[in-house]
Amino acid sequence: MNLSIVIYALFSLFSISLGFIGRFSFFRPKNIVSYHRLSSNNIKVEEILKSFKECLIPTKIESNLITKPPLNNLIEQLGTKKKVLIVTNDKISHHYLKTLASELTNNGFKVHEVILPDGEAHKTMDSAEIVINKAIECKLDRKTGIMLALGGGVIGDLTGFAASIYQRGIDYIQLPTSLLAMVDASIGGKTAVNHAKGKNLIGTFYHPKAVLMDLATLSTLPDREYFSGLSEVVKYGLIEDQGYFEWLEMNADKIVNKDINTISNMIHISVNHKLNITQRDYKEVRGIREILNFGHTFAHAIEAGFGYGLWLHGEAVSLGIMMALTMSAHELQLPCDYITRTKNLLSKFKLPVSIQNEHLLQLIGTDAYNKIISKLTSDEFINIMKFDKKAKNGNLNFVLMKELGDIRVVDQFNETNLIRLVNEFVKPI
Ligand SMILES: NC(=O)c1ccc[n+]([C@@H]2O[C@H](COP(=O)([O-])OP(=O)(O)OC[C@H]3O[C@@H](n4cnc5c(N)ncnc54)[C@H](O)[C@@H]3O)[C@@H](O)[C@H]2O)c1
Ligand SMILES: [Zn+2]
Repeated sequence: MNLSIVIYALFSLFSISLGFIGRFSFFRPKNIVSYHRLSSNNIKVEEILKSFKECLIPTKIESNLITKPPLNNLIEQLGTKKKVLIVTNDKISHHYLKTLASELTNNGFKVHEVILPDGEAHKTMDSAEIVINKAIECKLDRKTGIMLALGGGVIGDLTGFAASIYQRGIDYIQLPTSLLAMVDASIGGKTAVNHAKGKNLIGTFYHPKAVLMDLATLSTLPDREYFSGLSEVVKYGLIEDQGYFEWLEMNADKIVNKDINTISNMIHISVNHKLNITQRDYKEVRGIREILNFGHTFAHAIEAGFGYGLWLHGEAVSLGIMMALTMSAHELQLPCDYITRTKNLLSKFKLPVSIQNEHLLQLIGTDAYNKIISKLTSDEFINIMKFDKKAKNGNLNFVLMKELGDIRVVDQFNETNLIRLVNEFVKPI
């Protein structure tokens, strides 16, 4: 284990201990009508250490890790795995596959490729089978073979899934190329493919051997995708770290202008937050990982209600965050100041804070847009939320916030207020 990992391990253990102290004492609930406390006080230290070890994945964040020779970091991580299967899509391959494949070949690796069509619609069992067929065809084995996921969250989730079931689990490395994949999808060990009945219904918990984030790849990421990734970043500030939220406010202009040092810091901090939360609850059984769903119950209803693919996930999360904050003010008396500050920050990041999504309006026009909204009544919206994968037996629960960093999972709330909230946010423009 090299020194940086040891230092990181100590740092993370220290953070976990702080989290413990915080949850045991400072964040004791006061006058809350009804809530579920996060069940962190049931956790045994040995369990945390085990979960922590499983999550300790070498993660590098730099420029030119895969976009320019000599690719030393990647080659070091590949070690004795001489047969490499790169999984990517037809958009990303165009930018980054040639250099990566030829440089690995020049270094003595046998390189195979699977190039899938771009898009969430292709995150399916069929695509996983294509990857597995290729692995069989090129005789990839656990001892000498490895998969590389070169792309955004779709490719990362799909490759991770294929790797986890091929020969009962073959190594893979994540090379995330979208901001969302860097700050969220590549960290935490969840893999998935979609099913006709729902998103991410099939999947495994399976960590990559390493995650290498090449910041240079962000230069080709479309703006809309870049800004969309920022809503998860704002979410970390809200749920975990007031200091980070303030740092985002202070550095918003630099982030908008894609200042590389600021982006690098932002990704480092975000990765630490995602790790910190997931390593305490790797398999999502302790109610800690749930806090990552802040804003997501509403977001999923927006994505599904409009029809998947219209709103980008991050755009829906941005509006979902605004709705969750407003509900937090109703149910837990969250000070309104946070709602205003978050609205300002998300707006600076060119993210929707109301139902008015400029990208979509441009794409389909106001009439078609309003037609969709008028069909999305509050009953329909709440129904979609009830049958979200995360809702328990059709019972709604919401991840809400009493103060910045003080998260409650609430399953009893004022239904009239909820209907009013949905009507307030989801109405024709
Ligand atoms: N595993 C997890 O914990 C987790 C967490 C969050 C999201 N996800 C999953 O991640 C997926 C969303 O990820 P995403 O937003 O990265 O979507 P994506 O993978 O579809 O990428 C978004 C778009 O950007 C393109 N792209 C990506 N990187 C590029 C680059 N450097 N240059 C040019 N184009 C580039 C892609 O081809 C695609 O068109 C969803 O399927 C979601 O379920 C998983
Ligand atoms: Zn999300």
